[in-house]
Amino acid sequence: MTTRLTLPRPDDWHLHLRDGAMMEGVLPASAAHFARAIIMPNLVPPVVTGAEAAAYRERILAALPDDAAFEPLMTLYLTEATDPGDVRAAAEAGIIKAVKLYPAGATTNSASGVRDFDKVRGVLETMAEIGLPLCVHGEVTNAEIDIFDREAVFIERVLHPIREDTPGLRVVMEHITTRDAAEYVAAQGKDLAATITVQHLMLDRNDMLVGGIRPHYYCLPILKRGTHREALVEAALSGDPKYFLGTDSAPHATHAKENACGCAGCFTAPIALSCVAEVFDEAVALDKLEGFVSRHGPGFYGLPVNDDTITLEKGAPIDLPKAVETGAGPVTVFDPGRPLHWHVVAKET
Ligand code: DOR
Ligand code: ZN
Repeated sequence: MTTRLTLPRPDDWHLHLRDGAMMEGVLPASAAHFARAIIMPNLVPPVVTGAEAAAYRERILAALPDDAAFEPLMTLYLTEATDPGDVRAAAEAGIIKAVKLYPAGATTNSASGVRDFDKVRGVLETMAEIGLPLCVHGEVTNAEIDIFDREAVFIERVLHPIREDTPGLRVVMEHITTRDAAEYVAAQGKDLAATITVQHLMLDRNDMLVGGIRPHYYCLPILKRGTHREALVEAALSGDPKYFLGTDSAPHATHAKENACGCAGCFTAPIALSCVAEVFDEAVALDKLEGFVSRHGPGFYGLPVNDDTITLEKGAPIDLPKAVETGAGPVTVFDPGRPLHWHVVAKET
């Protein structure tokens, strides 16, 4: 039985760090385990230009603990007014590694996202030309579409047509939540990949809704039925390089989650690796963990696998941290509702 694992240091291919006091409070948790992370641009106001991304990157670097080795990989928030020339310049200068597409109204701070996809055609064509990935929040926003169906409908009505119209566009379907998405990604060529979160690997909608409503499990795309979770676990365990970890760790102050109109997002960063190791161990597939957390993401983004390593050990259930204190209030840490036996023992930089 494996009880100790040393892996190339993992990366988080989808992370919300926020800004200011919140960022200062949550950043150490990610930097302690992950070498790099794709940083979401849905600040208020959003990170729209290359100059804004460069400034946000500097704020992240300035907030890092002294001993941290962590590289933020910046993204731009795509709007209908985004200038293709600015995207090209920011990519060529190495400031950004991707552009994020939020359909307007799909989730937290997405009001400046895209309504009319014809208006972003020029940006998408530029991205296809230079090989810059588009990270997609894959949900339609139409009021008549049930929230549990929004991802599957998005694939058919939006994602597939965009990809057909823009040959060569490299796309990461972020935080996939359905069998439909896992199967779509598997069936497409190498220009399409997907991230999977911790909570969607571990939980289904019953965990969120049976016996009381658990606001800390509310995220978008929303948790789906158990058969979808099983498909995501199969995808993660498959060894297919199209799937990799993007935690979507999304901190909100506890009072904003435990609220009559609570915010979407699970703050998983402090225990994300313990959770993923637990899932792979339960499935007797620890040999596939390294690909999912350390190798497939760099492969898709054209970056080297990290030289440094991290070691995880299996033992008695770990004490789960309840909350992280930040200058913007306490943030409740995701509790998967079952014991976690794997913990990070060493990071070699
Ligand atoms: O649950 C979510 N929280 N999903 C998103 O797409 C955004 C995120 C956030 O920024 O809080
Ligand atoms: Zn997100």
